[in-house]
Amino acid sequence: KTKGFIFDLDGVIVDTAKYHYLAWKALAKSIGIDFTVHQNEQLKGISRESSLNKILEWGNKTLPKDKFMELMKEKNNQYLSYITTMDENEILPGVTQILDYISQRKHPIALGSASKNSKIILQKVNLLDWFDAIVDGNNVTKAKPDPEVFLKAAKAINTPANQCIVFEDSVAGIQAANVANMISIGIGDSTILNEADFVFKDFTEIHVDFLERLIKTKKE
Ligand code: BG6
Ligand code: MG
Repeated sequence: KTKGFIFDLDGVIVDTAKYHYLAWKALAKSIGIDFTVHQNEQLKGISRESSLNKILEWGNKTLPKDKFMELMKEKNNQYLSYITTMDENEILPGVTQILDYISQRKHPIALGSASKNSKIILQKVNLLDWFDAIVDGNNVTKAKPDPEVFLKAAKAINTPANQCIVFEDSVAGIQAANVANMISIGIGDSTILNEADFVFKDFTEIHVDFLERLIKTKKE
């Protein structure tokens, strides 16, 4: 049975993790909450709603529902203003090459992202056509580390979970892939992503011989 590849979006395909960080940082500051770069690792991969809940928890604050909704909207507007100018230049190193390698070998490719903005972003950077399926924040009810997004992505590309390979930059996403019994590949810092099956600094570090072995590996 052929392997399926599932890519996270923010921080894996494009460098949008920095925009999420800046937008949350400013939003938090506006309600008197500060958080560190280290805490920000916990915001990666999780939904917009879960992110705001975490920030409020850190600041020991609770908000009425309407204010909560307003702040989520404000954060997204700020984020959207950052991404309006995005183009191919913000595709992370090695991404196009690996997509090309995988699709030439006829392996299906899915997106598995928490973001509700994934389609706009893929369009902006002109990568939408590489994907056989898009599963994102608009299609799931449970945020990573719940495996829902990856299980739906696997289903969408007709591939059993244990034949899927997930690329992720977040701790929550690696955990989700592991719970789904998929091969988890961290893209980023190996000390942060230590639960992943493999970690690479970026896609330029992933060589063809590794991919060939990976395609033959079976997760029990
Ligand atoms: C994830 C990001 O991909 O998507 C998170 O890592 C972000 O930082 C989440 O909060 C939700 O994204 P959006 O675009 O729907 O606010
Ligand atoms: Mg990510």
